[in-house]
Order: sequence, then C-alpha cells, then structure tokens
Amino acid sequence: MRSSTEEEVVTDIDWDELRSAAVEAMEKAYAPYSRYRVGAAALVSDGRIVTGCNVENASYGVGLCAECGLVGNLHMTGGGELVAFVCVNNDGETIMPCGRCRQLLNEFAIPGMLLETVSGIRTIDEVLPDAFGPRDLEAAR
Ligand code: THU
Repeated sequence: MRSSTEEEVVTDIDWDELRSAAVEAMEKAYAPYSRYRVGAAALVSDGRIVTGCNVENASYGVGLCAECGLVGNLHMTGGGELVAFVCVNNDGETIMPCGRCRQLLNEFAIPGMLLETVSGIRTIDEVLPDAFGPRDLEAAR
C-alpha cells in the first residue's frame, strides 16, 4: 500500500540531478541482448532519489525494465510516493517509459507526478490517461 501523504511532499525538482542519477543507473544496466541500456530515476516524496536499470534475460520475454528495479528499490528503501521521474538511454537521452512501466509508476505516483519526456514535462495523467489503479479495486469492494 502507498504511504500516506500527510508528511510534507518535496516539490522542488532538480531535473539535472535526477537525469544524472538516471545516467548513473543506466551504466549498471545488463542489456546484452538488446544492447539498449536504460536507467531510471525518481524523486520520492521524502526527498530521496530511487533508481533502476534494465536487467535482461536469455529468456528474452522475462527481461526487466529499469522501472521494475526502481519501484522495487522504492519499496525496499522505505516506500513513499513518486514525485518526479526521468529515464534515459545509452546516450543519456531522455526516453519515454514504456506503457507497462507507466502503469508500474502510476501505482506509486503522487497525483500529478511529473515526468521529463521526449515532448517536455508531462504529468502521469497525460502519459497514462484514465489509468486503472488501486482506487478501482477499492471501489469494487
Ligand atoms: N526498457 C526499459 O528498461 N524501460 C522502458 O521504459 C523502455 C524499455 C528496456 C527493456 C529492454 O531491456 C530494452 O529497454 C529494449 O527494449
């Protein structure tokens, strides 16, 4: 479950710092099959930065996107909610998180979480409109 947002949420976003963290994560990627290394970084509501890199597999379909590692790290290091996110490729260029990963991020996003994208800063709602999320399950109970 997500932690409550009662604590003060960090809103001052240093995109350069976040992008650098994503590049550092990308350098740890294991991508021998696609040779497409990805690093992801997100600012958490309590001010920490969590990161992840893609980890591929000889069984291609079970490879993990960088965002999978990121949400795992988020949870393992104390939870919280994602305030801002960026992911980069091998050249350090900002890329779009894939559709599945937008869903992964949405689970832990503050409302209006910001993403640096190929078309500028966007909100999670803009890149994943009408998202299915935890509230849909709660509504059904
Ligand atoms: N990839 C990510 O890690 N995140 C994304 O949002 C897009 C794609 C990875 C998966 C695979 O290891 C490689 O990029 C090529 O698709």
